[in-house]
Amino acid sequence: MIDSKYRNKNLQVFNNDNVVTEGWYWALQSKELKTGKAKPVRLSGKDLAIFRTESGKVVAMDAYCPHRGAHLAGGTVEGEALRCYYHHWKFNEKGKCVDVPCLKKAPKAEVSTYPAEDHYGLIWVWVGQGKPHELPIVPDLEGHDVDVTFAKPYVKNCHPNIVMSDAIDVQHFRSVHRIPGNILHIEGKKVNDNTLRYDNVAAMPTDTIIGRLLAPFYKTQLTYSLCYWGGCAGSVTVGPDFQRYHIIYANRLGDNGVSEGQVILLTKRSKNVLGRMYGKALLGATRIVSDYFANGDTPQFDSINFDFKTPIKDDKTILTFMSHVEGLPVADWGFSKPNKIDSVDLSPAFSSNRKQTEGEACTIS
Ligand code: FES
Ligand SMILES: [Fe+2]
Repeated sequence: MIDSKYRNKNLQVFNNDNVVTEGWYWALQSKELKTGKAKPVRLSGKDLAIFRTESGKVVAMDAYCPHRGAHLAGGTVEGEALRCYYHHWKFNEKGKCVDVPCLKKAPKAEVSTYPAEDHYGLIWVWVGQGKPHELPIVPDLEGHDVDVTFAKPYVKNCHPNIVMSDAIDVQHFRSVHRIPGNILHIEGKKVNDNTLRYDNVAAMPTDTIIGRLLAPFYKTQLTYSLCYWGGCAGSVTVGPDFQRYHIIYANRLGDNGVSEGQVILLTKRSKNVLGRMYGKALLGATRIVSDYFANGDTPQFDSINFDFKTPIKDDKTILTFMSHVEGLPVADWGFSKPNKIDSVDLSPAFSSNRKQTEGEACTIS
């Protein structure tokens, strides 16, 4: 029997506009942050000043100066520190005030800072009280240098959890993207408390001409692998055995419940010039794949009023994701207040209980 706890009214974390779960979130593209410059960023209800020091380090701090509240992104980078434009108070990379021009000794004043990293072409900021997780890594690309480019950033009129549930919505590949047959058999497997993986286990069907042409390029299963970090970001890996395409969808919750997203396209970096040129062409092809799927989904992202009233067996993948998100730690950040949250235990989505062991498949009751 399907569990009715998946109704919107019963959820405390999933698809909640006032909740930000712990994790790494994108702030801006790396190329937008030049050495010695600062930028204003609003990340899920919190205003930040993010700057790149003269040595290239990225620092993320609360936006408003602890003197009189000027936005610190309007200031000037000096070495490894940022000087407020208004009265020239200077804050080091840990947020401590170290110089006030009209005083011999700086007063006790500081601004909060947050872990920030330059990774896969984005500046990521750690949101949460706990120790920062490992940065998101596409499993196939672990240990490799990569080349990255971006598809168009987007704003969708729904929560990031809803955007992320699209790529594991097995039914919609037939209805929206017109992929014939029943080619996907995926199940969510918990890698750790923060990470879910879905890997297709079905072979390329050979009942169509296209299927018969493509089948020799897939030794075992048709590649469709996803790795989800928390509830707002994840990677999709597709393509034949000799050439995989990797796409990361990185979302953050914006004001008024929208999703603000970046699409990173990745490929392994070649050591020679010809290989680099091929890689560039490959990223172009990846963009075509990504745009095709994104365009098909846009209408529903802009109008959906998500409420899972009638899940069916094919929706098991989404229920697994919902259970996962509902159990994530909530951050004290922007419009998210963890002490007001009493998350719902959706454990029936898993075959045993919430303390699922690594690699175990998830099933609905
Ligand atoms: S407001 Fe920043 S130094 Fe006065
Ligand atoms: Fe889709």
